[in-house]
Amino acid sequence: MEISVHQGSVVHESAALAVLNLWEGEALAPEIAALLEVDDFQGKFKQSVLIYPRDALPVRRLLLLGLGQPATMTSDTMRQVGALAAQKAHDLQLTSFASNVPTTAAVPAASVAQSLVEGAVSGLYHFLEHKSVRTPEETHQVTHLHLYVADDVASVQTGVAQGLAVAHGVTLARNLANGPGNVVTPAHLGDVAQALGARFGMRVTVLGPEELAHQGFGGLLAVGKGSAQPPQFIILEYGSATEQHPTICLVGKGITFDTGGISIKPSENLDHMKMDMCGAAAVLGAMHAVGELALPLHVVALISAAENMPSGTAYKPGDIITTLSGKTVEVLNTDAEGRIVLADALFYAQRYQPQAIIDLATLTGAIMVALGPHAIGLFSNNQPLADRVLRAGQASAERVWQFPLWDEYHEMMKSTIADLKNVAGRYGGAILAAAFLAAFVGDYPWVHLDIAGTAWTDKPARAYLTSGATGVGVCLLMQILQDFCAAQS
Ligand code: BES
Ligand code: MN
Ligand code: ZN
Repeated sequence: MEISVHQGSVVHESAALAVLNLWEGEALAPEIAALLEVDDFQGKFKQSVLIYPRDALPVRRLLLLGLGQPATMTSDTMRQVGALAAQKAHDLQLTSFASNVPTTAAVPAASVAQSLVEGAVSGLYHFLEHKSVRTPEETHQVTHLHLYVADDVASVQTGVAQGLAVAHGVTLARNLANGPGNVVTPAHLGDVAQALGARFGMRVTVLGPEELAHQGFGGLLAVGKGSAQPPQFIILEYGSATEQHPTICLVGKGITFDTGGISIKPSENLDHMKMDMCGAAAVLGAMHAVGELALPLHVVALISAAENMPSGTAYKPGDIITTLSGKTVEVLNTDAEGRIVLADALFYAQRYQPQAIIDLATLTGAIMVALGPHAIGLFSNNQPLADRVLRAGQASAERVWQFPLWDEYHEMMKSTIADLKNVAGRYGGAILAAAFLAAFVGDYPWVHLDIAGTAWTDKPARAYLTSGATGVGVCLLMQILQDFCAAQS
């Protein structure tokens, strides 16, 4: 979508559709009030009225869209409003629409514009790559959005650029996660990283099985062993480390299909397990946005990609494997594979001496039991970094909730015949998985984000979501990275 920013009132635009976002109780201009039946529109959140003003106003169609109270506005509510407006334009089969950028005393117009843009682009998203026959509705595209602001066009333009970058990242993440397992293979994730590298001038290294064996990636190799698709370790590096730009490592779980392996999963909803690379997708989406915005940072993306399959060559319960760190792991359940591939990636991250390691993974069903679809689980060995991510969760409205990592949990992951075991019972499952990961990050500040509950939806609860992949994590990561930029300067 192309977006242009103009100064002035949206109602004085000769647009096919002018969207006027209004706060609850906000006074209507008399010429608009005159077009309404009394009290039909109060500006309640998501309330809308479509008006055909004929000759009364210089617009073909006017959509009044309610924002609710300014005090209850968040980036999430603003994304929803942006999505509703764009979807209205789409329903009307328009190629462009205009919208005002509502402002409040508390929130700058730039961040309002950013959220509107994120919502508009994400709200129009549909995964149609594999549909050979498309309906006219599916083919139709809204290509232009004209934003109208009272003043400060320049700062709104900055917000628009950020919103577009984030939205492009979300689109990439959703496309990868909605992509079927036979297409989105570990090698495919490597290709996507190569393409990002070429486009944005990032350094890319993709290690295949031989190189992995040579370097000792025992965890990733063990998990990938059962599949005809070779495992890949992807390193995508943006910028370079300086005193002002210490390294941030983003680590993603990239299981392109998780059957459970020999500890095989039940077949009900097994197709969903093509989404077990949503951590990797979020990291690649964020790297896309980092490249587009040319952020002044050093960011290293590390992705462990493999397919978890049962076969004659698969790793087995009872196997003891030696990870890249040298630590040995007793495999008690081959379905707890995410933590094993992440062990190697997290250990690898230490070589960059990073100021922060942030991993994203669809790691446990237990996080879904704990939080449902409403929040990302956070686990950390460093409270200042955890607080930073929690704040970014508030600002980006991708909710994050912290769990404890007390010594008892680390104790539970110890094996009697190896250094660690990969499972230790059902209770506290999401924390135990995190405790396992903690053994591989050394003393570096680290945050683990379990996105198993939030990465996928069958019942989209927001206008900017469609069923399938949500692209969760991209907004959050971008907020975190922007905050690092602000802290540096
Ligand atoms: N990929 C799954 C976790 C998952 C479940 C993601 C549902 C998305 C939706 C992970 O690899 C897994 O299988 N975890 C097991 C761990 C158990 C064996 C300790 C789980 O949560 O059941
Ligand atoms: Mn699994
Ligand atoms: Zn998995």
